[in-house]
Amino acid sequence: MKTTIYYFSGTGNSLKVAKDIVAKLKDTEIIQICKNTVVNNYVAGNKIGIVFPVYSFGMPLLVKEFIESVEIPKDAYVFTIVTFGAAAGAAIDQLEKLLNYKGLELSAAFKMKMPGNYQVMYAPFSEEKQKKDFKNEEGKITEIVRSINNNEIIKFSGVGESIMKAVGGMLYTRFKPYEKDKNFWTDEKCNGCGICSKVCPANNIKMIEEKPQWQHKCEQCVACMQWCPKESIQYKKVTVNRGRYHHPDVVVTEIFQK
Ligand SMILES: Cc1cc2nc3c(=O)[nH]c(=O)nc-3n(C[C@H](O)[C@H](O)[C@H](O)COP(=O)(O)O)c2cc1C
Ligand code: SF4
Ligand code: SF4
Repeated sequence: MKTTIYYFSGTGNSLKVAKDIVAKLKDTEIIQICKNTVVNNYVAGNKIGIVFPVYSFGMPLLVKEFIESVEIPKDAYVFTIVTFGAAAGAAIDQLEKLLNYKGLELSAAFKMKMPGNYQVMYAPFSEEKQKKDFKNEEGKITEIVRSINNNEIIKFSGVGESIMKAVGGMLYTRFKPYEKDKNFWTDEKCNGCGICSKVCPANNIKMIEEKPQWQHKCEQCVACMQWCPKESIQYKKVTVNRGRYHHPDVVVTEIFQK
């Protein structure tokens, strides 16, 4: 059975997971979720994977938009892998509800702990912590591929999970990313290379006179800030001395919007 994996990724963690699954599953294609693919309204195959990062204990807005627009056969085996730095909150629950609304089931869900990339709020994880997450990811991929190959049904339930969903759902209501790009600015190191514009999955950066101009449809994926080769993009003043992160096995051209 052909598998299609749709992924959304700002700093490469979710892309790395998607690539590792593709390397181990037969007959699999991989498609980036970005503004262009939402518009193109893909028709998915019979086994569908949706891989994305947790934002504010829920789903990135663009992934929601994509799920709403994509056509998925009613009998498809749909699985998800969510990547997160600390807690997945209500992300899986939100996806399941969106699918149910379209008359589809979420057959299996997996959580993958990865380095937190929201350097707007905290410094990058230490190298030691990052390595621990990467090692853990390698081990889990084999298990996940086995489950997918066997069409296993995997649900999250229990009291802890219900609390996580409820609290996560409440916190998610504060996630309003579009205009947060007003806090981005470039320091004197910017050389006008335009990479920030190419990595933006939301077509939210226009290059005007060789400087990025944010258009207030921001997903807060932080790709522009994390992949700027000059570390020139700052968020308020908090990122000036904070360092940057992206997954070491992903190169910037893989993040470019398709
Ligand atoms: C806007 C934003 C919000 C985030 N919110 C959460 C969160 O609620 N819980 C969490 O564990 N990690 C959170 N993170 C961290 C990411 O989910 C995590 O680092 C993820 O693996 C990044 O994936 P990517 O490299 O594919 O973009 C957040 C990151 C961003 C950019
Ligand atoms: S990626 Fe960085 S250096 Fe290149 S144009 Fe954008 S802000 Fe400037
Ligand atoms: S402007 Fe930056 S943070 Fe916002 S969606 Fe584009 S790349 Fe992501």
